[in-house]
Amino acid sequence: MCGIIGALCRYEVRDDLLAALQRMEYRGYDSAGICTLHEGAFHQLKAAGKLHHLKEKNARQPIPGCVGIGHTRWATHGEPTMVNAHPHLSEQVAIVHNGIIENHLALRQHLHQRGRNFSSQTDTEVLPHLLEEKMAECGDVLPAWRDMLAELHGAYAIAAMIRALPGSLWFARKGSPLLLGRSEQGMYVASDALALAGLADEVMYIEEGEWGRVTLDAVDVYALDGQPVQHDWEPLPLSVEDSGKGGFRHYMLKEIHEQPGVLRNILRAYVHETTIRFEQAMFLHSRPLPERIVMVACGTSYHAALTARYWLERYLQIPVEVDIASEYRYRDPVIGDNTLLITLSQSGETADTLEVLRMFKRQTPQNRALALCNVASSSLARESDGLIELFAGPEIGVASTKAYMAQLAVLALLTMCMAGRAGALKSSEMAGHLRYLEKTVTDMEAMLADSSGVLQASSLFAGVKGALYLGRGPCYPMALEGALKLKEISYLHAEGYAAGEMKHGPIALIDSTLPVVVIAPKQYHLDKVISNLHEVQARGARVILIVDLPEADWFAHASALIRIPEGDYFSTPLLVCIPLQLLAYEVACMYGTDVDQPRNLAKSVTVE
Ligand code: M6R
Repeated sequence: MCGIIGALCRYEVRDDLLAALQRMEYRGYDSAGICTLHEGAFHQLKAAGKLHHLKEKNARQPIPGCVGIGHTRWATHGEPTMVNAHPHLSEQVAIVHNGIIENHLALRQHLHQRGRNFSSQTDTEVLPHLLEEKMAECGDVLPAWRDMLAELHGAYAIAAMIRALPGSLWFARKGSPLLLGRSEQGMYVASDALALAGLADEVMYIEEGEWGRVTLDAVDVYALDGQPVQHDWEPLPLSVEDSGKGGFRHYMLKEIHEQPGVLRNILRAYVHETTIRFEQAMFLHSRPLPERIVMVACGTSYHAALTARYWLERYLQIPVEVDIASEYRYRDPVIGDNTLLITLSQSGETADTLEVLRMFKRQTPQNRALALCNVASSSLARESDGLIELFAGPEIGVASTKAYMAQLAVLALLTMCMAGRAGALKSSEMAGHLRYLEKTVTDMEAMLADSSGVLQASSLFAGVKGALYLGRGPCYPMALEGALKLKEISYLHAEGYAAGEMKHGPIALIDSTLPVVVIAPKQYHLDKVISNLHEVQARGARVILIVDLPEADWFAHASALIRIPEGDYFSTPLLVCIPLQLLAYEVACMYGTDVDQPRNLAKSVTVE
């Protein structure tokens, strides 16, 4: 979703602002803008559409100034036009904003009555005017900034410049992430650490409700009630290389290829010989096992949770509830004692998932909340009682790939760890499963080195209207994920179904033009899947089989075969990730879509 950058430097900042916006492109956006303050005047450039339009404007008419703010906007209030793009300005103030000001209509009306005019349809435009009014009332910016924040309902991360104070940048955070950065050359405000790669050496994370200002020499941070707060500077956990494509055509392809390394990192971090240990979630090792688990997430992360439910229920024999965060938070769920909440999120900033965590902590403070998250500094990670980090590295492609595989891998380890404690998994069995996970690293490398099966399968998607994905057991949610991946990046309609459910409706879709991807590893009810395969094949569909058997007579029913190495109960879904992701990628490339930034999508969904 929207991205914010602010820079106050010893040199002109426009190029840094544009470079930072480029590093945040992956979040998804539909317009962009930058504004600098130079010799008492604001200089502004805005453009609808992709960033190159803004860059072209800057090349024609570079804007001067050593202090500036920039924004990539993902439209919520008002269309993605130049007028609605940020920054939004009043005479004295320029502001960029992420989030939604829920009471913007009331504020707009009030400000209008005071003679203020608005040019955009955005909620954000009330902010510079409101601050200006408060500055006139208070005669000073600090109390005015605090008074402005006190009037806002909703979520925001804000960066602002004030014309009379060219040596400072102002900021505030509530419900939307924000951090500060510093180097010898300047100070920065950003919504995303990646924006600061190559600019800042150190970062400071701003907490919920905090606000303040930076100058070249100082940082003042205040809590919501106006009390000063202190935070430490930490090294920026990223380099410029992290934000590159590493020679691949797309970020998504690079990230698919990074998966063997990600799995290797996870095993190194959490497995010590045959012991599994989660140092940032020690309660998993010390407290009694929970009587119930609730797993909540969105999108792809939700699919990872659905697969893990099969694993956890089999080994722990306790109820495991899995829900979509946007449903769970409005569902009046019954949360008993001894319940472990597991939230899953690549970004750790997904608004609905975060709200579930906060609701759970409010309602049952006696329970523990565990986050499985790729960003250790994220709100979700920091507000949970324990963290299992995914160690996937920055995921920039909007379609989640390596973070999903990493979620499955840590969920497999978590299941084994808890099953070991419950006495449901002997150490010899555990050692066997861990050996399979280690073998998965090299198996993935081999699959990525030869993707001929996927390429052949992708040609079956030429000119089709949609596709069906079928699986059973832990591979049923993988069918959901395969379908989601395809629709996200190729814009083809796709459905994932439990193979046994097909005859209850979706079978009506089947004709000779429909590609049907059947996930058929021998681990999960293969005989049943083969029966479903016959039903599909009898109706003439184009069957794409994902299999781990070397040969079988039922392979004859397939239009394409994608072979995966043999896995075990836990490792098989990890292996299945690769062909599902590559297939979606190849089909999207065939259709010529924007693979890394598909239309309408945002990487990190920070609004409800
Ligand atoms: O950062 P999160 O894992 O919380 O994000 C959840 C979903 O928004 C995300 O998985 C989304 O579905 C992706 N575009 C999937 O590729």
